Amino acid sequence: MAITKTVGEYVFGSGSFEQLADLLRPRREIEGAPVVFLLDHFFAGSGLMSRLPAEDDDQILMVDTTDEPTTDSVDGFTLRVRETCDREPAAVVAIGGGSTLDTGKAVSNLLTNPGQAADYQGWDLLRHRGVFKIGVPTISGTGAEASRTCVMLNAEKNIKLGMISEFSIFDQLLLDPDLTSTVPREQFFHTAMDTYIHCVESLGGRFRHPVADSFSKEALRLCRESLLEDDMQSPGSREKLMVASYLGGSAIGNSFVGVVHPVSAGLSMVFHTHHCIGNCIALNGLDEFYPEEAAEFRRMRDVQNIPPPPKVCTGVTEDQLVQLYDATIVHAKPLANALGDRFADILNFDKAASIFRQL
Ligand SMILES: [Fe+2]
Repeated sequence: MAITKTVGEYVFGSGSFEQLADLLRPRREIEGAPVVFLLDHFFAGSGLMSRLPAEDDDQILMVDTTDEPTTDSVDGFTLRVRETCDREPAAVVAIGGGSTLDTGKAVSNLLTNPGQAADYQGWDLLRHRGVFKIGVPTISGTGAEASRTCVMLNAEKNIKLGMISEFSIFDQLLLDPDLTSTVPREQFFHTAMDTYIHCVESLGGRFRHPVADSFSKEALRLCRESLLEDDMQSPGSREKLMVASYLGGSAIGNSFVGVVHPVSAGLSMVFHTHHCIGNCIALNGLDEFYPEEAAEFRRMRDVQNIPPPPKVCTGVTEDQLVQLYDATIVHAKPLANALGDRFADILNFDKAASIFRQL
């Protein structure tokens, strides 16, 4: 029997960002310590930055999301907090997309667990609850707001893996669909597709879970309404996709992804392809495993007038193919979920190489 957990408290609704100060007040009173805000650099100098309920001793750290979080970047943020704050912060507030949310979760965990980020990449390695953490997503799709992981690249080990633990779950969420109104259109689409992919991978897996199935089915319904029947960036669709992202992340917290995410992780390690566009590139070339889903992805793209994903493997070398394969096949749990225990026989090097060459 698997024990599962999801985020315990959340505030949802247009304009709810204004309640962040109210969420922080009891934390400030209990802890008597400053708050650390991690803000996606996309919002540097923006109106959102000026609306942060920051007080005198609080720290605002900008998270450069040009590249995805690494174990080194997380260690760097943790050190900066430790150097400027002589106490454990009252809360860590992460505001941004999946990279910023995951950075916030990882920093919160490292502030109470000794050692470095790389020490905790894997399943249930954290020993202590992190600093109280609040997630505020500004784009919908990754499900990072709901998941029990915080994914980081580790170049030394050629692996993309999170601190998978109940301690990586946010204590509170603030879900305000108004915050997604300024997302560039293609990025918005590719990120929404991450939720779609979480759900089809979960539903297509061997480790089904009735709660995860229900989350996935409702999230898929909301994705289809938003991406096939409406302008995905209308206020109504942005609200639906924010709910879908949360449900899709909750689904994955109760189950596993499939082939798309491991292939995308390989692209991340070798070409630094971002998670969501990487998933779209992968799904677009995985018709053999996901024929209906790949076709539906292309239909959604057409409806939303989004160009095909770029070719990233043109001119790929043999060395890179080995690295791509290694960084993919290491994800045993999702691959076994999709393909069974003999996944390495099905997705052997030659099969994977032929797929990668087309991406
Ligand atoms: Fe994902």
